[in-house]
Amino acid sequence: MPLLIAIDGPAASGKGTLAKRLAGHYGLPHLDTGLLYRAVALALLDAGRSLDDHAAAAQAARTLDAERLDDPRLRERAMGEAASRVSAVPEVRAGLLTWQRRFATDPQGAVLDGRDIGTVVCPDAGVKLFITASSEERARRRHLELAGRGETADFAVILADIEARDARDASRAAAPLRMADDAIRLDTTDLDANAAFDEARAIVERAR
Ligand code: C5P
Repeated sequence: MPLLIAIDGPAASGKGTLAKRLAGHYGLPHLDTGLLYRAVALALLDAGRSLDDHAAAAQAARTLDAERLDDPRLRERAMGEAASRVSAVPEVRAGLLTWQRRFATDPQGAVLDGRDIGTVVCPDAGVKLFITASSEERARRRHLELAGRGETADFAVILADIEARDARDASRAAAPLRMADDAIRLDTTDLDANAAFDEARAIVERAR
């Protein structure tokens, strides 16, 4: 049986780092699904369209080019906010669903991380993890990450940004951020990246 690992969690919870490490460890392809929503937002902005133009957003989702996923601008703070806005549009989610499901059916197995992987994209995944951490700790990590890339931002602004994004992602009608009933929660507030990886690997080993 291919090993399919679904990882969800709020912004800056460390799910991306964890997903990447698990994928490396098990030799599986990895998809950061947040990048798809970020790419839709970037396509709209590059085309001079408003983020509220739902028809253009749906079209961008249907025709998303995998090459755009390497664009460094996708990682900018503002793009996370823009992605969160377009991700509430049901047609955008539907357009990206096909993409994600195709990735998940890789015969080797796969690791996908996002907000609705365990609930909507891969409800039959063999392993489901829900990664959390306090919002202060997540803001601290994001602050460090942005500083490492030379993007300066005030801690309070980052914290407010993260909390607003979580509230929007959890309260939207279409595929809200929610832990799947059969997911295992891993709180990484007091864990460094290595300890989080060890815990996650132990969960995968027990569940597979
Ligand atoms: O994970 P990341 O912060 O890159 O995601 C950016 C935004 O994309 C999230 O705030 C969320 O609104 C949206 N997203 C989503 N479903 C996913 C992945 C990301 O709605 N599976």
